[in-house]
Parts: sequence; structure tokens; C-alpha cells
Amino acid sequence: MSTEHSKIHPVPERLLDAKKVPPKPHIDSFEAYQKMYRKSIMEPEAFWGQLAKELLHWHKPFETVLSGGFDYGDIAWFPEGELNASYNCVDRHALANPDKVAIIYEGDEPGNDRTITYGELLRDVGRLANALKSYRLRKGDTVAIYMPMVPEAIIAFLACARLGIIHSVVFAGFSAEALRDRIRDASSKLVITADEGRRGGKTIHIKKIVDEALKECPTVEHVLVYQRTGSDVPFKSPRDLWWHEEIEKQRPYCPPEIVNSEDALFLLYTSGSTGKPKGILHTTAGYLLGAAITFKYVFDYHEGDVFGCMADIGWITGHTYIVYGSLCYGGTTVVFESTPIYPTPSRYWEVVAKHKITQFYTAPTAIRLLRRLGHQHVEGHDLSSLRVIGSVGEPINPEAWEWYNEVVGKGKCAVVDTYWQTETGSIVISPLPGAIPTKPGSATVPFFGVDPVILDPTSGEELHGNGVEGVLVFKQPWPSMARTVYNNHNRYLDTYLKPYKGYYYTGDGVGRDEDGYYWIRGRVDDVINVSGHRLSTAEIESALVAHDGVAEAAAIGVSHEITGQAVHAFVTLKARGENTEVKELVLQVQKGIGTFAAPKKIYLVPDLPKTRSGKIMRRVLRKVVAGESDQLGDLSTLADPSIIPTLINKVNQEQ
Ligand code: PRX
Repeated sequence: MSTEHSKIHPVPERLLDAKKVPPKPHIDSFEAYQKMYRKSIMEPEAFWGQLAKELLHWHKPFETVLSGGFDYGDIAWFPEGELNASYNCVDRHALANPDKVAIIYEGDEPGNDRTITYGELLRDVGRLANALKSYRLRKGDTVAIYMPMVPEAIIAFLACARLGIIHSVVFAGFSAEALRDRIRDASSKLVITADEGRRGGKTIHIKKIVDEALKECPTVEHVLVYQRTGSDVPFKSPRDLWWHEEIEKQRPYCPPEIVNSEDALFLLYTSGSTGKPKGILHTTAGYLLGAAITFKYVFDYHEGDVFGCMADIGWITGHTYIVYGSLCYGGTTVVFESTPIYPTPSRYWEVVAKHKITQFYTAPTAIRLLRRLGHQHVEGHDLSSLRVIGSVGEPINPEAWEWYNEVVGKGKCAVVDTYWQTETGSIVISPLPGAIPTKPGSATVPFFGVDPVILDPTSGEELHGNGVEGVLVFKQPWPSMARTVYNNHNRYLDTYLKPYKGYYYTGDGVGRDEDGYYWIRGRVDDVINVSGHRLSTAEIESALVAHDGVAEAAAIGVSHEITGQAVHAFVTLKARGENTEVKELVLQVQKGIGTFAAPKKIYLVPDLPKTRSGKIMRRVLRKVVAGESDQLGDLSTLADPSIIPTLINKVNQEQ
């Protein structure tokens, strides 16, 4: 393992010298981390029981901390407890400190910003929740949220949570077809959306996409439309309702519906290695606890801090840190509608300086892009408020890590490379700012309650000790882990709990170096990670074969300087599709999934490499594209070896 020799960065002095620059980190030494970590693993019930009482407000206390386990996937945390997520995220802070800023909105155009206090948030959530009630929506119903990055999106999350309604947020970059599939799978009764979105100076025609999706969604009774731009958009009464008109009718307080700890809070669809996206289901208490405690410790959040997460609320990072972690902990969170380069590549740094952001959280793809554009865009902006700078979504290469540390963090901030997944609910492997020395490219050590184990992928044996490489699994349940796949518990068991009995399977390859630090290598299944967006080869392939002219398709992930990976696809055409053009096929994927999934390259080939039983050998395609045709490995199962030179020629011609 070459990476294990890389440079060690001690905890920055600035963080440890609380006398000069307060606050003192919550956990300020490696020993303190180890002590707490040991307790979390040896006595999980005492550990989590105490934290659940400290960090959450309970309407009815729990008696049991944990029941069930990995065998049946019947995990339940705090099963007798009752609470409400929106009460925890809004009311208790509004009661204590109504004027504290909960949300800072930074719009697409610089200068378009506003703040919302906890007191205002309570009233906004109350009005919207009362509107939802008036449509006879009840606990256990699902509502789809397809919104741009505006504070009203958070209000929509919380209004659902207030009534025990399960929200299913769909990232507003997904196409009409992808939105339709998610609405249908969850049988959503309402869609909360906007007229249009604005991002990077461009308009996104959100309402039109919703209308297109709803042509085939019989469960949807109403569409609630927030006016973001005020443009003239198609509006279908009585199905469609204007947000501003609806909330005007409502009283600003709505009593929270108290739910069980294990009642569903939300669904979030994510791609796996096979078939359709899965509706990952998170429950209330465990998820909130995981979100709040990681928010506190991984970002070392203190009173008065401003947390700036640049992710979209349509992904898990937005759910857990922009919304639930920050608000449950009573923090101030930024909702950023734009891009890192609009109107200039200084935008992030202008936002940090303007709002005095203390914790900044983004993805390696943005860091790599900004690094390429040059440090001059960072200089001249006052970034002295920053204490913690984080990365998430994909492995961060050491060069990008060092740039982030030096140019953005000025060597004075803690860099936290946080590893987690939609399914883990909150961060599971990461440094803690005041406690863990870092190594560029390593997510370092497990968070409290997380017991990582490395298995030999073939034998399933545990690989003990340091200096080992294998697949990453977890040995104990943790509070914020997903509980099921919506309406398909067998799929949950098959994907996460059955591949290696007794463990939760992540699907990621990992190494543990000589110091016991973890290095996430990326997916070992057919999942492609483009700019931190998770895509499955199966989804891309099914979008391609939906085209009339396409016979077969194989999608692979190819390493890319900025986006981490890029999608390349090999396509064979039907005889009657022989005039099909590559650009039509790219459009086909944009239509089926979204622009972010568009293949960077499509090769039209006469045949695909297949085993004699007809399975596509993507491994061969990956090697050919990487220019490693001399390392194709064992080809004895390949049905027609003569295809290989044709593939190599095709790729060489087009690269
Ligand atoms: O492969 C890992 C990668 O992203 C996957 C999870 O994707 P998603 O559910 O969309 O959640 C992304 C945001 C939490 C993981 O299986 N991944 C995420 N964070 C890291 C990472 N890979 C390496 N290092 C990370 N810090």
C-alpha cells in the first residue's frame, strides 16, 4: 500500500490553543477520542442511551436502547420512545432563543440573501404543516419534494416531519422519468415543488418537469408550487396549488404529531448495483441522534458557529447536515443555491467571508476544479472564520487534500475527510478536528459506535491487524443506519446484511494501514461515482436500451481528473437502428436519469465482450479504456475473443 507512507498532519495548533482562539474543541486529544470510542463499542447501550437523552427531546422516554440486529434486519433503537423530529429541530430552539438565526440563504445571484430565525422557522413550518393537514395528509403518507436550493425546501422537510409524513426528496437534477419512477415507487400523494430553479445563472424548468412526470402518477392528488422566480409556468387547477396562497390561509402554529422512535422520517432513493433505485428508509430517533452527534463532534460545532455545507438537499449530505444535524443541534446552517464558479471561481470564498462560515463542507470534485482554476481565486478573501473544512462523497486524492489544507485552510484548519453513505445516515469514518492527526487521502478512524471490519472478499474471513486490504463491513448496528428498503425488506437484507452474514456490507473496498487508519478505495460493485453522485451501471444501461435503435449497452466508470469517475458506455445497435447517432444516446440517458448521468463517451461497437453464458465482461472494457489491453487477465470464459482487437481499435480511434 503506497499511501500508508504519506505525510501525517498533526492537529492544527490553532484548534488546540483555545486560550488564543476559542472555542476549545469538544474532543481535544487522541486519548480522549480513544476512551470515548472504546466505551461506544464495549457498552453501546450505556453510551447511546446517555447521548439520546442529552441530544434529543423526548415526549415519552425510551426504556430499551437497542433491540434486534443484523440477522433479520429488525434493528430498533429506543423502541418505546416517542418524539417529533420537527419539534427537536425547531420548537425547542425557538422556545429558548427565537431570534437565533437558523438558516442563511445565499441565492444564485450574489446579493440575494436572507436569514430565517428559529422563531420564524417555527411559524413557517406550522403554516405549511397546517396546509398539508388540510389536504388530508396523515402520518405514514409519503410526499415527494422536488425543489431548488431555497429555505422553503427545508420548511417542506420539517412540515412533513411535523405530521409524521414521510418525505421523499428527489434531487432537482433528476429527469421527469426518474422523478416519475420515484413518485410511483413511494405512492406519493403530494409533490412539493417550485415554478423554476436558478443555478449558475441558468433557469431550470422544474414545474414543467413535474408536469411531465405526473402524466403517469395516479397517486398524486395535489402539487404545491413555491414561487421562486415568478415566471409564467403551466398551472393546472384544481390539482396545482400555489404555496403562497395556501400558507396565507393557515395559522402559524401546528401541534406536532408525536411519533415512535422507529417511525419513518424519510425515504431517499439511491442507486445500487442492480435494477431500480432503492428507497432507503430512515427512522426518526436513531437518525436524528446520528445526525446531531456527528454534527457536533466531526464538525466541532460550537454556539455562534455558521455551518456551510455546499451539497444539495436532494442528496443525503444535504438531508443530514444542512437540515437535520444542524437544526437538531440548534445550529445556523447555510442554504447555497449557486455553484462554486458562478459568477466567478471565487464564489465559495466570497460566501465564506460574507457569512463568516466556521465549518465549510464540500466534495472533492469541487476542490479539484477550483484547484485547477488557480489559487488566485481564493486569495484576497477573508477566510479567517474557518476552523473546519470537510470533504465528502468520494475518495479525495492527496494533491487536492493538500491544496484544500494550504490554500483554503491556510494550514490552520482541521481537514475532515468524512466517509459515509446514504444508508449509514451519518458520518461513520472521519477525523475529529481537535483529536485526530490526519493523512491526506485517508478518512482516518471510525466514529463512535462504528466497528469497521475488513473482510477478504472471497472467503469472507476477517482480516485482523494492520496493513490489510479487503471489503469494508461494520460489525455492530449504529443508531442512524437505514432500517429497510421501502416496500422491499428482502432487497435490504440481500444488499446489506446477507452478503457477509453478521455484518453490514458497504460495497466499498478499503485498506487499513500500519497506524490503523482507513483508506477508502471506492466501490467494488457496479456503482459509478461521478462528482460524488452515485449511479449504477444497470440504470445507465437500461436508459440506453430504452432507445429504439439500441440492442445492448454496457456502462463503465473511468477515472477522471475532476469528476473522480466519468461514465463511458459501449453500445451495439439493432439493424434498424444503424443510423443512430451518439448524441441521441447521450440525450437518452439525460432523459432517463438526468444530465449529471450523461456518458462522457459512447462507443458504437459491433459486439460486447461476453462470457459463454452471456454475461457482459465490464472488467475487459475498463481495461481497454484505461489503455491496459496488455493486462486483460483471464479471458478463458470469453465467448468470442476476436472482439477484443475491434474494441481496442475503436477506443484508440476515439481517444
Ligand atoms: O463509495 C463511497 C463514496 O460514496 C458512496 C456513498 O454514496 P452516497 O450514498 O451517494 O453518499 C455520498 C455522501 C455521503 C460510498 O459507498 N464515499 C462517500 N464519502 C467518501 C466516499 N469514498 C471515499 N471517501 C469518502 N470520504
